[in-house]
Amino acid sequence: MHEKTITFDRYGVMGYPISHSRSPVIHRLFALQTGQNIQYELLQVSADKLETAVRQFQRTGGKGLNVTVPHKRAVAKLADHISERARTAGAVNTLSFIEGEIHGDNTDGIGLLRDLVVNLGLNLDGANILILGAGGATSGIVGPLLEMEPAMIRIANRTLDRAEEIVSRFKHLGPVSACHFNAVPVSTPYDLVINATSAGVKGEAPPYPAAAINETTFCYDLSYGLTPTPFSVWAREHGAAKSVMGWGMLVEQAAESFHIWRHVMPDTAPVLKQMSISA
Ligand code: ATR
Repeated sequence: MHEKTITFDRYGVMGYPISHSRSPVIHRLFALQTGQNIQYELLQVSADKLETAVRQFQRTGGKGLNVTVPHKRAVAKLADHISERARTAGAVNTLSFIEGEIHGDNTDGIGLLRDLVVNLGLNLDGANILILGAGGATSGIVGPLLEMEPAMIRIANRTLDRAEEIVSRFKHLGPVSACHFNAVPVSTPYDLVINATSAGVKGEAPPYPAAAINETTFCYDLSYGLTPTPFSVWAREHGAAKSVMGWGMLVEQAAESFHIWRHVMPDTAPVLKQMSISA
């Protein structure tokens, strides 16, 4: 009798630093749930080694990679094919290696939308949205948010030029405007305030605009932690209707990557729960 050998397809996440990443746990839970034979590695790669590391992973039989901070922009240049949503975002977080070619996609925007709309039940149609920060994270979410037809998206940033640059790239898709972090217009209340700055992660506490928040405002931090992030604490203290960290977006973007690679959509709810995360 022959023993059946199980082969595992290789995936991983590349970033710098990467040790804090929860992606291996999430993908292992997805694999268990769907019966997929995959292994998922944590790959710490600095910017100067990115191309070599991606090509080596591909050459040695790897099937796909997640790419995270700080490589999402740079890795787009290595892709032979790039999806429309990754092109619009100007960033790639998912690579697939198919018949010797590299396909780049971006699942961050859809991940955020699934969490906001499906998991948290928000209606973004006609919503007044404020995004704090104008870095890579903001570039990834403005396009998908505009597709939900909000009344307005304002991007507030400490460096006004960066917010204006994002607005110039997205304004043909819908109503979006830029302002300085300390000069957020508050004549109309915000339904949703998203923190897309890296301030909390760096242990900094910028002057978040308190006047933008009232008891109807939903606050969402793209950052997440085992204890509440500085922004989510601040939002609660300033009377927001709800203050949520980005665990749901993390799990949803991972599910979309898993679907791209394995053509199976995992059920995200038990994974969010299993990670002891309250969304
Ligand atoms: P990411 O790719 O995670 O978005 P990034 O491109 O470095 O990272 O962008 C970080 C964002 O957080 C920027 O909008 C940055 O503001 P600046 O463009 O003015 O640098 C914002 N940010 C970081 N620390 C901040 C702080 N202490 N106060 C206000 N904004 C901050």
